[in-house]
Amino acid sequence: MSLVSTRLNDSQCLVQFSCNRFAKILLGQTLIWVNPSNTRKWGKSKKVNPQITSMEPLELLKKYVRDEKLIKHCIATAAVMKSLARELGEDEEKWWTIGILHDIDYEQTQGDMEKHGLVGAEILLKEGVEEEIAEVVKRHNHMLFGDYEKPVEIALQAADSVSGLVIACALVKGGKITEVTPKTVKKKFKEKSFAAGCDRDRIRMIEKLGMPLEKLYEVAIRGLTEVKDELGLS
Ligand SMILES: [Fe+2]
Repeated sequence: MSLVSTRLNDSQCLVQFSCNRFAKILLGQTLIWVNPSNTRKWGKSKKVNPQITSMEPLELLKKYVRDEKLIKHCIATAAVMKSLARELGEDEEKWWTIGILHDIDYEQTQGDMEKHGLVGAEILLKEGVEEEIAEVVKRHNHMLFGDYEKPVEIALQAADSVSGLVIACALVKGGKITEVTPKTVKKKFKEKSFAAGCDRDRIRMIEKLGMPLEKLYEVAIRGLTEVKDELGLS
């Protein structure tokens, strides 16, 4: 995960994340959330796996992650995953859960890409999360893996990166995601220096699922709009 931030003015700062490892991008200078106390959960209460654990995904994430910025990155990724699942006729709850949990080991592994994902899978299995989810989390480290064929794995690569790009687009519009359109994202996608840590190649992977990039932007905007309060956007 990397951070993208911009200072809009002295009193209003927004922060967002992209997940291109080691690529820290600073659009501005300050990393502060507009509403760090906003911890309202999105959507209905969901359990990881009612048969195995009673802990909700976000609750489980917070057991291992303290950084509010990282938690918000995971919510953003999950929101795009859920929106993609809806579009592709996949399991929305499962894809949301994977998005929430995909970086659960990030604080423990401290950016060590030899361990990232592998440790996450160990944590999830220890916590009783189903193996399928742990496997996707393990393999999402694209520096260790990359031979993605499963829709959920491809979607996670795209969601992890496009979430940061779309939020960066919102930040240049005063934090208003409601003003971001697929056309906006398409234009910024082509500007390599804009949110440069948002890996365009990972975003392009969505085309393997037969989804054009502009459709991905539309789906991502829709998903992120549903969690705009949690992300400090409007
Ligand atoms: Fe991530």
